[in-house]
Amino acid sequence: MIRRTGWTRAALVLVAVVLCFSIAYPREHEPNSSYAERRARLRAQVDAPVVIFGFTGKEDASPSYIFGQEENFYYLTGHNEEGAALVLLPDAGLKPGATPGKSNGGPKEILFLPPRNKQQERWNGPRIGFEDADAAQKTGFATVENFAKLKDALEPLAKAYADFYTLLPGRVENGYPHRTNWNNWLRTNFPQANLKDVSQPIAAMRQVKSATEMVILGRSIDLSADAHIEAMKMIRPSLYEYEVAARMVYVHMRGGAEREGYAPIVGTGFNSTLLHYNGARAQIKDGDLVLMDVACEYSGYSADITRTVPANGKFTPRQREIYEIVLAASDAAIAAIKPGVMSGGNTPGSLQKIAMDVINSRGKDKDGNPLGKYFIHGLGHPIGLNVHDPGVPGRALEPGMVITIEPGIYILDENIGVRIEDDILVTETGAKNLTARVPRTVEEIEKLMAEAKKNRGKERD
Ligand code: GLY
Ligand code: MN
Ligand code: MN
Repeated sequence: MIRRTGWTRAALVLVAVVLCFSIAYPREHEPNSSYAERRARLRAQVDAPVVIFGFTGKEDASPSYIFGQEENFYYLTGHNEEGAALVLLPDAGLKPGATPGKSNGGPKEILFLPPRNKQQERWNGPRIGFEDADAAQKTGFATVENFAKLKDALEPLAKAYADFYTLLPGRVENGYPHRTNWNNWLRTNFPQANLKDVSQPIAAMRQVKSATEMVILGRSIDLSADAHIEAMKMIRPSLYEYEVAARMVYVHMRGGAEREGYAPIVGTGFNSTLLHYNGARAQIKDGDLVLMDVACEYSGYSADITRTVPANGKFTPRQREIYEIVLAASDAAIAAIKPGVMSGGNTPGSLQKIAMDVINSRGKDKDGNPLGKYFIHGLGHPIGLNVHDPGVPGRALEPGMVITIEPGIYILDENIGVRIEDDILVTETGAKNLTARVPRTVEEIEKLMAEAKKNRGKERD
């Protein structure tokens, strides 16, 4: 047991002081014009002011916390610092009889920032303050105001408009209740305003990536692909799962990623059958399959890649059979991608059904049953600022969407878990597999692993 000496008490106080602040990781940024264009598009869709709050930096109290902006706020501002708010004004939607005031003749968009705090900056580095002469140039907002004036700025808007659009919590929030807290702030200060949810219009925009966004998401995908190739080259019996995970995280960080897109999943043998296994403590054994679902977050954007490889570099006949069924399901789904197609759902022509039909029509389990019952999750999801990016339910695919295709079969009593997950850009005519260069076929995987083994010699084999 650790005893609390005077020194440890002092250290705890210091830690507590440090925890009051969080590090804002510098991100690669799209041009300010990209964020401005999104704000203009959102303003054109709403009939009342939009009020969105950034994170405060106190959402997470753990020492490993690295500040990452509230995604919707970031999507519209590109501002990755604490304690900000965004107000957007529509052209339409005044209350009947209301006088168009400053709100309608004045700025259509305002970024609210806290003032500079020199003491705090000694800990965390410089921030952009509302009072900075270059705040407008840096943020791309013509009007940058003191966050402390937000309430005053909203007063006339609450008189002129019946509604405010903001991020409503919807269901109970997981973790820190950011939306609930700010909703309460709005309700307390503007009880007459009807709060409406702006999540869906923003989700709809986020679903279709812009060219400048693709540069950053592409970097995240490329780093994650590099990590998978490195992992395949190193995997062999006797390594521990955490050694593989560590190598992949190293490749991400070396390339400038700020963190993982999600906790790395490296599962060997039975662990390959556990969908979100994060244990990473087992030793890889000869004859195991090793499943890696690992990808980074680069400048806010997450990739999502899974590969499954034989520990010793050669699939057994049964492993190969299951692997090639999963691969056939993936290939069939990717081949069917084009604008207008549905990804999820069990309707004819949906990607989910195409993949399931392949899995159900080939191979059997030990009892002679079809394998569909071992494909127990959705076929895919959008990626972007979140590894599980939001989307509009029931929306068909459109050019510019980036989705995962990730069929899997998990047979517990055979210690076989296979998932193959690729990141796919929907194009005007079909699909582009952005992770195709990470070996996918049995032949590609066995070739890469055999070459790596040759180069490695006898080390730890
Ligand atoms: N890595 C989580 C997922 O594939 O959805
Ligand atoms: Mn996924
Ligand atoms: Mn994944």
